[in-house]
Amino acid sequence: MKRNEFFQQREGRSLKPDDITLNTKFVEFVPKQISLATRFSRNVTLKVPLVSAAMDTVTEARMAIAMARWGGMGIIHRNLTPHKQAEEVDRVKNACKFGLIEQPICVFEDETVESIDRRREEKQYHFHSFLVIERLIGRLVGVFTGQDRRFCKSLAVQVREVMTRNPVTGIFGDTTVVQAFEKMREKKIKVLPLISTLGTVRGLWTLADVERMLAQSVPDNFGSDGRYQVAAAIGLLGVDKDTEERVALLVDKHVDVLKIDMAHAGTAAAVETVKWIKCIYPVDVVPGNVSEESATRHLLEAGADGIMVGQSPGSVCKSKQVKGTGLALATAVYKCAQITEKCDVPLGADGGLWHPGDIVKVLAIGASFAVCGRRFAGTEESPGDVIEDEETGLRKKLYRGMGSLGAMRDRMNMGSRERYLQNDMEELVAEGFETEVPYVGPAEKITKTLAGGIRKGMFEIGAYDIPSLRIEADFYEEQ
Ligand code: XMP
Repeated sequence: MKRNEFFQQREGRSLKPDDITLNTKFVEFVPKQISLATRFSRNVTLKVPLVSAAMDTVTEARMAIAMARWGGMGIIHRNLTPHKQAEEVDRVKNACKFGLIEQPICVFEDETVESIDRRREEKQYHFHSFLVIERLIGRLVGVFTGQDRRFCKSLAVQVREVMTRNPVTGIFGDTTVVQAFEKMREKKIKVLPLISTLGTVRGLWTLADVERMLAQSVPDNFGSDGRYQVAAAIGLLGVDKDTEERVALLVDKHVDVLKIDMAHAGTAAAVETVKWIKCIYPVDVVPGNVSEESATRHLLEAGADGIMVGQSPGSVCKSKQVKGTGLALATAVYKCAQITEKCDVPLGADGGLWHPGDIVKVLAIGASFAVCGRRFAGTEESPGDVIEDEETGLRKKLYRGMGSLGAMRDRMNMGSRERYLQNDMEELVAEGFETEVPYVGPAEKITKTLAGGIRKGMFEIGAYDIPSLRIEADFYEEQ
C-alpha cells in the first residue's frame, strides 16, 4: 500500500516506525548509484540525511565538524551563553574551508611563540601553520609551521627568529587550484599563501583542501560559502531574555540555520520568532518540534524554512508520562509532511531513531533527514569525558535529556529550562532523564554505518534517491 492510503486507513492511530515494514522490489540498478543527498532547510543541503541533536551531551563544535565531515550536520545546543555558542559555530565554520581561505589567521613577526601557543589553545585552532606578517602594511615575511614550533628552543623568542623565511607564494587572482597543487607538490609544502603585488596576504591554499577539491567526490557537507554547514539552537523572542543577542552573534559567525528549539513549537511565540528572524536576518530558520498539521501550517506561513517533527519519541524523553502528549514518530511525520510537501520545505524526523531501517521508514513517510541523539552520544566527539566502570572496565559516556533535572538544575543551563518553559518554576518537573551509553569511538563509524544501512534499504525498495523512496515504498503494518 502506498503511504497516503496506508495512513489514511489508520487515521486516529499513533504509529511508530517499528509498527511498519516496507516491501522489497525487483531492482534494476546497483546500490552505489543511490544518492542520499537531501535538504535540511530551504537553502541548506546535506549529503547524507543525518543530523546530530541539539543536546548538551551530543553536539558542540567537535561533533558538528565530524557530522559535516561525513556529509551530515550538527545542531549546536543552547545550554551555552550566547557568546560561547557563537564561538562553537565559529569553530565549525573555520574548521575547514573547501577552497581558498580568504582571511587566513596571521601573526605578527614580533609576537612570541608563547603568545601564539596561547591563542591556538584559546581558539582551539586545529591547524599548525600561521602566516607571519610585518606590522607596517601587513606584508608576508614568513610562515611559522608546526615543524618550526616543534624545534623551537624557547617559548619567549619572537616568531621572526624561528619562522621559515621566504615562503613559496602564489599571486592572488593568478593561481589556479591545479597550479597551487603542482607548486605544493613540487616544493613539498602544506600551505601556499597568495599575495598581492605589494606582498600583502590575500588568501591561502592548504594541501588538504586542494587535494579534496581535486578529488572527484568528497563526503564533506560544504555550504555555498565553501565551509562546513552548521545549525544552532535558539529560544523564543520575548520569552528567553537573550534571544536577540544570541541570534545576532550566531548570524555574525555565519551560522547556516537557526533551529528554534522548543519541546512544543506550535505556539504563537514560535510563530512570532520565525517572523522576526526572517524579517531581519538572511538566514534559514527551522522551528521545532511539532507533530501535527496546524502547528506546521502556522510556522510555514510565518516563513519557516523547514520543520522539525517529534514530540515524545526521544530515548531519554518523559513527555508521555509527564504530559500525556505527543504522537508516535511515523504518524507525526506523515501528518506534518502533508503540509511541508505542498510548500516544498524539508522536514526532519527527531527522536527514537537508532537503526538505519527506522530512518529508511521515516524518509519513506516524508522526512528529509533524521535527527539522532543517543546514537551519537557515545562517540568520541560528543561533549563530556569517557567514564570507565571500575568493576567491568567498560567505557561509557553520560547522555541526558535536555529536560532532565541534571540539565535543568544548573542555573547556567537556562536553555534547557526555556526549552521546557520552566524558567520561573519553583519546583522543576523532569521531562527527560539521565543515563549512560557505551563509548563507541569516532562518530565517523556511526555515520557510515547508518548511511550504509539507509542505502541498502533504499536499494531493496528500488529507490535511487530520497524523493523516489516516497513514491516507491510499499507500506505494511507489523503485527
Ligand atoms: P534520541 O532518541 O535520538 O532522541 O535520543 C533525541 C531527541 O530527543 C529530544 N529530547 C528530549 N525530549 N525530554 C524530551 O521529551 C528531554 O529531556 C529531551 N532531550 C532531548 C530531542 O528532540 C532530541 O533531538
